[in-house]
Amino acid sequence: MADSQKKPSVLIFGGLNTCSRALAALLVPLDGEPLVSLLRIVDKYSVHPATTYLGSEFPKILEKPEVEYKQANLTVGTTIASVFDPPEGQGEFDYVYDFTGEIRTDRTEVIQYSTTYCIARMLGLEAAKRKVKAFVRIQQPFYETSSKGSLETDDPKPAGAVGIWWHETLRGLAAIEDLNLVILRVGFVYGPYTSHGIIATGINVASVYGYMKKPMKSMWSPGKNPNNTIHVDDVAGAAWASSQWISGLGRKAANEAAGVPIPFHNDKTFVKEHPDIPAHNTKPVAPLFNLVDDSNSTLLSVGEVVTSFFGTNFEFFNMVENAMLKWIDHDIEEINEQHVSGWTEMLMKANPPISKTPLTAYMDKYTLEKHVIAFPNNKIKQVIGYQLKHPEFNHAAVKDIVDKWKEEGSWPVIN
Ligand SMILES: *[C@@H]1O[C@H](CO)[C@@H](O)[C@H](O)[C@H]1NC(C)=O
Repeated sequence: MADSQKKPSVLIFGGLNTCSRALAALLVPLDGEPLVSLLRIVDKYSVHPATTYLGSEFPKILEKPEVEYKQANLTVGTTIASVFDPPEGQGEFDYVYDFTGEIRTDRTEVIQYSTTYCIARMLGLEAAKRKVKAFVRIQQPFYETSSKGSLETDDPKPAGAVGIWWHETLRGLAAIEDLNLVILRVGFVYGPYTSHGIIATGINVASVYGYMKKPMKSMWSPGKNPNNTIHVDDVAGAAWASSQWISGLGRKAANEAAGVPIPFHNDKTFVKEHPDIPAHNTKPVAPLFNLVDDSNSTLLSVGEVVTSFFGTNFEFFNMVENAMLKWIDHDIEEINEQHVSGWTEMLMKANPPISKTPLTAYMDKYTLEKHVIAFPNNKIKQVIGYQLKHPEFNHAAVKDIVDKWKEEGSWPVIN
């Protein structure tokens, strides 16, 4: 159909280990009409053979005629310019989705600067130079928000070095004035084929306690610990909706409709020595939206959903917070011992036994620490009109995730 001429061509950078496979599945579905004329995905991983977990669906999407994959080292500026080049005879790409950024929380500041800040900044500069109509940045929830919730106009505290550099990246992008930028500040992401993050680990660990018929115990008192959640398909859906929204408006009007200043949270001395980072006394403005579901998820509600799904309970250690922090600092292995060995047993007893899976019951320091993530989601609904596909984190969601892992042989089927 002549219509296909009008479909946008799009680039997705990074996020193969987080959300970009779900976006690819939305843009070029396995069954049904693609929304785009061309989808190029660029990340550091190899897909043949896979050097990261891809899930069983994504390799089939890569086979689609509209889709191409490029493995590239995006820390190299000339590489970035070359992957932006459209195929022979075609115009520049229309939309760019920036899902890059180091999600490992144990990396040094130097690595965070070069792989989170510098890559995104170079992508933004190149996209602005080529006048792409939309540039959507996913901001992972490396913050400690107010327990009442941090609106877009509020200033939640970046959590640790990882948080500081993810946040600084927003300033670096916002400062590119003619970049058609939209920032989506997401909650804890969960969903099918999503092995990263706190919710996936929580599901795996809860299954072990269900298997052992023991309660799963939380390190943190139930209190008010918001842990707002978002389905990976809504990250994809909102990214697509945001690109359509800003492509019709342009940055200036988008700033007027949804722009907020992005405050400084970094080390002044470091910034002074790096001219590619906006000066500490500037607050560049960019359209920014919180993106979480309607569950108002908390540590307690997530814990209850996952444990009850596996037929056990969610309980709390009776310990003061300081003692808990010390325990995490010194004895992560002890904390993990029971459920990691339980998970190994489940894999061995499975029918058929599983020798290799991307899933783990190991909880790293970041996963064990207390997090307060509350992002009220009204603005994206009102301004962009985005409607959540999965407003609630519930048993059906966990079942869908686990069933798909079972189907592809990543999850122990015990009978
Ligand atoms: C990517 O390029 C940088 C800069 O040349 C280099 O330091 C790094 O090792 C490269 N990474 C990989 C995975 O090749």
